[in-house]
Amino acid sequence: MDPAQLKASRILMLDDEVANTCLVANFLNRLGYTNVESINDPTQIFDRIATFQPDLLLLDLSMPQLDGFQVLELLRRETSRGDRIPVIVITGDATSANKRRALAAGATDLLAKPIDPSEANMRIRNVLERRLLQLEIEEQNRALEERVLERTAQLQEALDDLQNAQRQMLRQERLSAFAEMAGGVVHDFSNALMAVIGYSDMLLASEGRNLDERATALEYLRIINTAGRDAAEVVSRLRDFYRPRTTAESQVVDLKEVLHQAVLMTQPKWNDPSRPGGTEIVVAAELKHLPIMRGNPSELREMMTNLIFNAVDAMPDGGTITLRTSESPGSVVLEVADSGAGMSAEVRARCLDPFFSTKGDKGTGLGLAMVFGIVQRQQGSLEIESELGKGTTFRITLPSEGEATGAAIAAVETPQLERLHAA
Ligand SMILES: Nc1ncnc2c1ncn2[C@@H]1O[C@H](COP(=O)(O)OP(=O)(O)OP(=O)(O)O)[C@@H](O)[C@H]1O
Ligand SMILES: [Mg+2]
Repeated sequence: MDPAQLKASRILMLDDEVANTCLVANFLNRLGYTNVESINDPTQIFDRIATFQPDLLLLDLSMPQLDGFQVLELLRRETSRGDRIPVIVITGDATSANKRRALAAGATDLLAKPIDPSEANMRIRNVLERRLLQLEIEEQNRALEERVLERTAQLQEALDDLQNAQRQMLRQERLSAFAEMAGGVVHDFSNALMAVIGYSDMLLASEGRNLDERATALEYLRIINTAGRDAAEVVSRLRDFYRPRTTAESQVVDLKEVLHQAVLMTQPKWNDPSRPGGTEIVVAAELKHLPIMRGNPSELREMMTNLIFNAVDAMPDGGTITLRTSESPGSVVLEVADSGAGMSAEVRARCLDPFFSTKGDKGTGLGLAMVFGIVQRQQGSLEIESELGKGTTFRITLPSEGEATGAAIAAVETPQLERLHAA
């Protein structure tokens, strides 16, 4: 305890006898206490306490109007325990009963008159030291509470910032997912339109001439119809983004039929009469095993359309697109191979990324991202083999529901697929 701090403590004295207060004030001054005040009118005590804020009250017991016991009682009533000023009672009547009564009324200590200077010195010092320590602890507690409040406010602010950032990130993610999905819809919608436009152009071009076969016109219309339905399915994905379907659109799929339709629908692209002479593209099919499988035929056509379009783009000088199917336990393996330019390791590593394209303005880079999404939705897997200058093979493995059926194998022999071989 710093002695200077101790000696600067505020000491207030209340005694109705002026001679007594002078005596004690002198005594305290001699001990080095510099901040001593005294009053002789007990009714003024509370005003003085309020203005002087003493660290110690020296209180006479027997006074007119308001005696020491009443002062103690009022002090106890008016102030909470923590704010209570220590009181040393000074009495000429230091009987045991009086002492007990004073202590019970809230006195901290007692001094008997006539005052023994060394005893008084020690008792006053003890009480003041306790008081100063108590004030110091209170001050530390207050500072600690302030720091806790400050830190809590900082933490709350950090939490708010984090929550805001999270909300923003979620919004951003949702926005980019939407942009990707919307881009994909536009992309695949355009693919489907190519079949609609290509085949309707062919129908229109035949106007005035006799279509050699009515059956051909009907077949074109059927392709246009399928492509139109696929386009509608593609657009419905926009709706699904906000209202996801509860049940998977899964049905038994005739894979041969899906491949056949995809090849026909993409014909305006691979069999484009405006291709430079001698750059023919041939589509060949080697469909060996066709077990029963479930899936979404519209999405599978979309997948094939994207793969065939990419294959055509990779073969500006013509070449062959080969569609192969085979079976492995519990799954059907579908390959789309081309004899085109192939991919570098870097392009192959990134080709599934949304918006990755090496085709500049001619590509959105969403085709393979859509293919990957479809394969995932059908619980399948995708492998890519590619060699620069030699070509690329996309191998898609999809779950099947059993052995190849006789009907499915027989279907491979249908004239439509024979036409595929010849195309
Ligand atoms: N069969 C392939 N042969 C060579 N490279 C390919 C083949 N398929 C895809 N790629 C490469 O992968 C990239 C991404 O293909 P993806 O289908 O996602 O987009 P894109 O074809 O460029 O654009 P879009 O599909 O919008 O026309 C292509 O730009 C191309 O570089
Ligand atoms: Mg593409």
